[in-house]
Amino acid sequence: MRKDKIVLPSILAANFAHLEDAITQVTKAGATMLHLDIMDGHFVPNISFGSGTVKQINSFCSLTLDTHLMIEDPDKYLEDFCNAGSDILTVHVEACRHLHRTVSKIKELGMKAGVSLNPATSLISIEEILPMVDLVLVMSVNPGFGGQKFIESSIDRVERLSALINEKKLHTVIEVDGGIDATTIVKAKNAGADYFVAGNAVFGNGKIENNFKQLLQLLH
Ligand code: DX5
Ligand code: ZN
Repeated sequence: MRKDKIVLPSILAANFAHLEDAITQVTKAGATMLHLDIMDGHFVPNISFGSGTVKQINSFCSLTLDTHLMIEDPDKYLEDFCNAGSDILTVHVEACRHLHRTVSKIKELGMKAGVSLNPATSLISIEEILPMVDLVLVMSVNPGFGGQKFIESSIDRVERLSALINEKKLHTVIEVDGGIDATTIVKAKNAGADYFVAGNAVFGNGKIENNFKQLLQLLH
């Protein structure tokens, strides 16, 4: 998977009444991937949208769809998200009883596989699965809501994960998600992250295109 440094807009913070417009703006600004947050009201205390919405987005959007499943029992829905057009499917370690089976199934379906860790979950819990996954998503907030404050200890986690990936001579992508802004993006980059998810920093105040470009500039 491509390992250049990129910003992935999270549409959770966009205005859903004008979603196509918001996606068009980030595409114009140079986005290549879009981050889609799926929340079920069980794994996280919030509900967002499902595979039907992903399918509608896929019908007009040419960006790579990076789908972050914050749901219990994700196995039930892997095919739905594949059929909806997800290119990367990320599941939470904490939500999978048989993570190896889940990751295998995602790959069998032809998608890239990601695993995500909540801030309190040890990196060791993914050590065995690491050679099988394309991406590790390090949550830098407790999942469930956009606009939360970046948890500073995430930097140390990214550094340790990066060292582990290098030690194993792997090429796994490190993605950081939650509280990414002009300050935290630089810290996360220096720690070794590759993909940076940004919701409010892109779709919050100001012009969407400018917001995106400013964040991207900080990576190059
Ligand atoms: C949080 C989600 C994030 C969220 C990030 O549970 O996984 O992707 O949209 O939003 P910001 O960038 O506003 O913290
Ligand atoms: Zn996310």
